[in-house]
Amino acid sequence: MKKIHLTLALGMLVTAASAQHNAKKAIPFAEKQTDVMLKAIPQAKEKATKPNVVSPRTLNAAGELVMIPSRDWVSGFFPGELWYLFEYTHDQKWKDAAKTYTAFIEPEQFDKGTHDVGFKIYCSVGNGYRLTKDAHYKDVIIQAAKTLSTRFNPKVGAIKSWDGRKEWPYPVIIDNMMNLELLFEASKLSGDTSFRNIAIKHANTTMKNHFRPDFSSYHVIDYDPETGAAVHKQTHQGYADASAWARGQGWGLYGYTLCYRETKDLRYLKQAEAIAKFIMTNPNMPADKVPYWDFNAPDIPNAPRDASAAAIMASAFYELSTYSKNGKQYRKMADEMTNSLSKNYQAKPGESQGFILLHSTGHKPANSEIDVPISYADYYYLEALLRQDRLEKGKPVLTWQIVN
Ligand code: GLY
Repeated sequence: MKKIHLTLALGMLVTAASAQHNAKKAIPFAEKQTDVMLKAIPQAKEKATKPNVVSPRTLNAAGELVMIPSRDWVSGFFPGELWYLFEYTHDQKWKDAAKTYTAFIEPEQFDKGTHDVGFKIYCSVGNGYRLTKDAHYKDVIIQAAKTLSTRFNPKVGAIKSWDGRKEWPYPVIIDNMMNLELLFEASKLSGDTSFRNIAIKHANTTMKNHFRPDFSSYHVIDYDPETGAAVHKQTHQGYADASAWARGQGWGLYGYTLCYRETKDLRYLKQAEAIAKFIMTNPNMPADKVPYWDFNAPDIPNAPRDASAAAIMASAFYELSTYSKNGKQYRKMADEMTNSLSKNYQAKPGESQGFILLHSTGHKPANSEIDVPISYADYYYLEALLRQDRLEKGKPVLTWQIVN
């Protein structure tokens, strides 16, 4: 008996040590890669075919850096990565770069044409405010929340994701759960509870209509804006309407975890746990825990993976592990995902124009960004590594303390 306990204890020590080792090695690697990227950006900007490009997004078929303007939904992730590097290292060099690249995204606070204002502003300015408490960032967050709120229709009870889709008058995508973090934060900063109320209503409407009995989610629910009825249940980036698009399952897991953090409403915790169960027990989850791009892709095991889905899920699992009675299981899952990414999905040092992770899938049905590096994979990977490291040190996954 004693021997078994000793073996278990040693096993846990080894797991803990390797997890810590992971962040200690992976973050310095991410710093070196980001140095490469910062050097590659000026030339990529010069060669860009689009005007006003500010952030890196992915690589093209020739292996060149694809730069995007701030209006692209991915624009806030690179500044967010720079904030995460600053948070971990306290190196002023990363803070300076983060401030520069965050400033490029700020005009998006006024764009009423997309729900992505949440992704863009919260990953950049939101992290900047969290770590600096700069009053200007606070104003931008509040303005962005006002802008996002204009997309809420009380009849539907949800924020509209996209405009101008003939086939879908009022599409709401599962990804939209991620934008709620901006609204919760803006209510805390401004005292205006309307943002928080919208976030709660959106989360409740999504819980009612986006999920199937097994707690996998549809990608798109299209509502009748006059009656609020859920009219279409379809996909945009997944394999089929009825399939489980991997990144979408990650957005849902992360979204309900953050809703529980902000409200302590047990319905959100239960929802996150049910989504976690779908992911963890899925027979199509590969042994290394980096999902195929869709859990129902027809060509599994030859289907492309989506490293970004693993990174989003890992980060969410770390946070959920601190709220749930299943915490140990979730943390183990997060460690497995993060460690797999570190071991087998990282770029070769100095290569891939400084991207950190390879093997993400952006939009398979459109034949776009398949098996490539993408900046949102790097962002959530860094976030997961930070969370792993903080948990190893016995700290909460998130800090709002000023970093100097
Ligand atoms: N929000 C779009 C995506 O996850 O690709």
